[in-house]
Amino acid sequence: MRKQIAAANWKMNLTYQQAEKLFDELLATPHQLKQDQLAIFAVPFPYLQLANERMSGRANVMVAAQNCSNKRSGAYTGEVSVEMLNSMNIPCVIIGHSERREYFNESNQLLAEKIDICLETGIQPIFCCGEPLDIREAGTQNVFVGKQLEESLFHLSAEQLQHIVIAYEPIWAIGTGKTASADQAQEMHAFIRSHLSAKFGDSIAENISILYGGSVKGNNAAELFSRRDVDGGLVGGASLDAAEFVKIINALK
Ligand code: 13P
Repeated sequence: MRKQIAAANWKMNLTYQQAEKLFDELLATPHQLKQDQLAIFAVPFPYLQLANERMSGRANVMVAAQNCSNKRSGAYTGEVSVEMLNSMNIPCVIIGHSERREYFNESNQLLAEKIDICLETGIQPIFCCGEPLDIREAGTQNVFVGKQLEESLFHLSAEQLQHIVIAYEPIWAIGTGKTASADQAQEMHAFIRSHLSAKFGDSIAENISILYGGSVKGNNAAELFSRRDVDGGLVGGASLDAAEFVKIINALK
């Protein structure tokens, strides 16, 4: 059975002291993570060690990085390698967030390189995809997202694909307060699953967790997560508030 996941993406927010306080609040707020559920905290690089310390020994909780280099090591000032993350026992990394694609020109091909290094190293990628507003308005979102999947993931073997989590994040819904409706999310998630199924087979596609991201809040999470192919959320703004994020965890199916 595929995992239901509430993933926090803190983005470039919070000072170290604020991060410590948020972890204290999260740990003090009761949540109910069941066996097939997972909470993931994707925090800025300088807070990974803190996150590991605070979350160690907690069942069904994982710490993630928000990005990694497409190079293995060497003279790439300011970059962070997958091997570095692995050596700090970080099991997971977000790859291809739309903000990386847009502000740092990350292409589908570059993301394929990052995916390869993650899988070789045994780190789980959360691969992000999603269309901008003009593509949604033109009604060509399936072609757009299909191409993102093909160019970054379709070179993998079925065995490799099993280690990937997908996050569908329509760009027009990120940080805008404008959520995709549960029906729109379900429609795209079903398309993503069928696209993966056509290439990798039904049983592999059925086991991939596909998260929705874009203005997920405590008060809309349950409705979104109720849909068959929506296996949880990748949460920005609302993950910076402990009570709000715990509501989202508790809304997982
Ligand atoms: P918001 O939840 O702030 O819309 O951000 C979504 C997102 O980009 C998560 O990666």
